[in-house]
Amino acid sequence: MKPSVDAVKLAGQLRPGELVGKTVVVIDVLRASTTIIAALDAGALGVIAKRDIESARQCAGSIDRALLGGERSAAHIEGFDLGNSPLEYSPAVVDGRVIVLCTTNGTKAVKIAMEGELVMIGAITNRAAVVDEVIEAGRDIMLVCSGTDGEVSEEDCFAAGLIAELLDGWGTLTERARELSINAGTALCGAGDIESVLFRTFHGHRLHQLGHASDIHAAARMDSSKCVPMLDKGGMLSLMR
Ligand code: MLT
Repeated sequence: MKPSVDAVKLAGQLRPGELVGKTVVVIDVLRASTTIIAALDAGALGVIAKRDIESARQCAGSIDRALLGGERSAAHIEGFDLGNSPLEYSPAVVDGRVIVLCTTNGTKAVKIAMEGELVMIGAITNRAAVVDEVIEAGRDIMLVCSGTDGEVSEEDCFAAGLIAELLDGWGTLTERARELSINAGTALCGAGDIESVLFRTFHGHRLHQLGHASDIHAAARMDSSKCVPMLDKGGMLSLMR
């Protein structure tokens, strides 16, 4: 029997035990997933996801030369070294450093996903690479969209659909994964290109208005990265292979 490829539009919709034994792909295109991938691409040793600001501060304080990154309402958090723009995570800044990241939705979704057998980070930038990794793992798959402030976000569903599309045939898409795959194709046809899809979303529009258009351009660069952050037993996202 082929592995199943399932998807949830919102991490909060997961039922207890639903991730057990599965490969879980956490998706927060704008911007946590894209930023975590950018940080590891730029040479960061690893990224530790934290739910709240205080525990992020404490964690960073216990690690040599750790950098604190994240956002609240898409803005830089007072006292943090970095925000949540993938473009801030350049080799000059993050090479050889551990990043402790606290974002509104994305890092919370990583925490929820920890129940999975293998947890990795997916985005548009690493779409093909993440597909290769989940195929290699060979288990049933759950694509987990982080959402925005408890609401489904179109850009996460779009990326999940793009990933599901590549897995169709290798695995068996559930009804909800197939729906996302079809919707992603429709959104792309309607908008013309990936950037336009992202700019038209609620959060894309908000980020644009806040002056973060360049982050949306960065998030739309499909398959620009071969990096697939994976969660180790100690709670660090890193390049394990
Ligand atoms: C989040 O985790 O909520 C997002 O990445 C928000 C953002 O910084 O755009």
